[in-house]
Amino acid sequence: MTDEHPPSTLPLRRAYTFWAPIYDALIDNRATRRVRQRSIELLRDWGGKRVLLIGVGSGLDLPFLPYDGTYTGIDITPAMLERARRRAQRWGCPIRLMKGNAMSLPFDDDEFDRIVMHLILAVVPDPARALCEAARVLRPGGEILILDKFLRPGQRAPLRRALNVLTRRLATRTDVVFEDTLAQCPGPTLVHDEPAFLGGWFRHIILRKE
Ligand SMILES: C[S@@+](CC[C@H](N)C(=O)[O-])C[C@H]1O[C@@H](n2cnc3c(N)ncnc32)[C@H](O)[C@@H]1O
Repeated sequence: MTDEHPPSTLPLRRAYTFWAPIYDALIDNRATRRVRQRSIELLRDWGGKRVLLIGVGSGLDLPFLPYDGTYTGIDITPAMLERARRRAQRWGCPIRLMKGNAMSLPFDDDEFDRIVMHLILAVVPDPARALCEAARVLRPGGEILILDKFLRPGQRAPLRRALNVLTRRLATRTDVVFEDTLAQCPGPTLVHDEPAFLGGWFRHIILRKE
């Protein structure tokens, strides 16, 4: 997308090193599990697919994946990756886990059939860059599965925009407009968009690379 260096990952790496021991206790519950499962089930035929999970975190998606795909998970925070490694072992999930930056992916073009971006696009400081990187490593015809919180174009949401100043370095952004992000990334097109959680603040989105 650009030759400039991506923004620093250090603040979020520090933040998620702090959150790692309590992340599951904060995030994982019956409602969020249902939302994850719904997201994964939106796409069929995982068998034999090369799947990349960007910002895999502690691996909360792993129990929902059909284990006949080839999985790779990346994250910038070693403490989160360690939790994902333990979860993968517990569930017998065959996944290659590695450190990597969503805004500068360590993969070749067209390397994956499917990309899972759960709670990462609205986390990174440059979502458009992360989305373009995902599109770059996705093969033509492949899909990007997104689950995250987005504002709608023109939505004022003053509280969320104000909160963003605080939250963007601590955990996540709250001011990302999905449509603006997609507009900066030529290639993938929107094929599905449905409300997921909290009155549609969180959305299930599928993009396809034509
Ligand atoms: C909100 S958590 C989501 C984790 C997981 N996807 C989930 O659904 O539970 C965000 C994750 O993104 C990781 N992360 C933040 N910035 C990143 C970046 N630039 N590249 C890769 N991972 C990043 C954090 O370490 C953290 O594990």
